[in-house]
Amino acid sequence: MTIGIEPLHPLYAARLTGVDIRQPIDESTMTEVRAALATYAVCVIGHDQPPTNEEHIAFSARLGPLERGESPKIKGTEVRLPYPEIVDQSNLNDVGEIYADDDRRLAYKRANRLWHTDMSFYEVRATYSLLVGHITPPSGAETEFTDMRAVWEALPQARKAGLEDLIVEHSYWYSRVQGGGPEPTEEERVTRPPARHGLVHLHAPSGRKALYLASHASDIVGMPREEARALISDLMDFAVQPQFVYAHKWRQGDVLIWDNLATMHRATPFDDRNFVRDMRRTTCREKAMETADSLIA
Ligand code: OGA
Ligand code: MN
Repeated sequence: MTIGIEPLHPLYAARLTGVDIRQPIDESTMTEVRAALATYAVCVIGHDQPPTNEEHIAFSARLGPLERGESPKIKGTEVRLPYPEIVDQSNLNDVGEIYADDDRRLAYKRANRLWHTDMSFYEVRATYSLLVGHITPPSGAETEFTDMRAVWEALPQARKAGLEDLIVEHSYWYSRVQGGGPEPTEEERVTRPPARHGLVHLHAPSGRKALYLASHASDIVGMPREEARALISDLMDFAVQPQFVYAHKWRQGDVLIWDNLATMHRATPFDDRNFVRDMRRTTCREKAMETADSLIA
């Protein structure tokens, strides 16, 4: 045993000690990290200095095939972080200044404040997300989690009945609009069709069943829309009760890893007009993709 595990919540979430993702990590230590993730689903590894983008990507690649976004466009629109594996979750524009109030990208970022799991609107789902805190504001901006395995186990038997047979549709556009973004045009909508996933699945790493839900969940196959949305909303409310929630208070240099197949999460507000929050994410997927998916949330 080379790593230390300090639980952060009675049900899940742990701080891992004795691991530094900025240094080479041997395979037996990685096996311990994977085992801790299987059990705790949310793990934090602290560092004095935030890992570089290269260190972040290299470590992430050891937890599964990485999502690669579209290559940055060269003409006119420089991106702040030109790495196809890294999603910029900061409140900074391409020249490193806090976004103007009317910047369209802000509206999309706000959707992160809805409870969700990353990329459930793709057929090939996200497994682990790894978010690195480069600059964190003095207050607010905690990231909140809930453990969907504990939630499933706590759901009364009568409410579980029939749920394991249901198939849920997850739509990128649905959560963008729910989050306050504009309605997509029909042309936009067809570029990103919804994906379907079972409402309940077996979380293979832990062998426990989990509910799989997110702000992207828009419909249930074969159920009238109103009834489906009421059921989704009831289950979401059950899932985010305080006894299931772990709120992560960020420190610069934290690497927070979560399992999207076992948890939901959300961003919380902070004074984003006056303070910089520079967060960067990589995402592992269930299998390697031949072509890049370009929308990430
Ligand atoms: C994400 C996300 C929440 C946060 O990176 O996927 O939802 O607190 N982040 O930034
Ligand atoms: Mn997210």
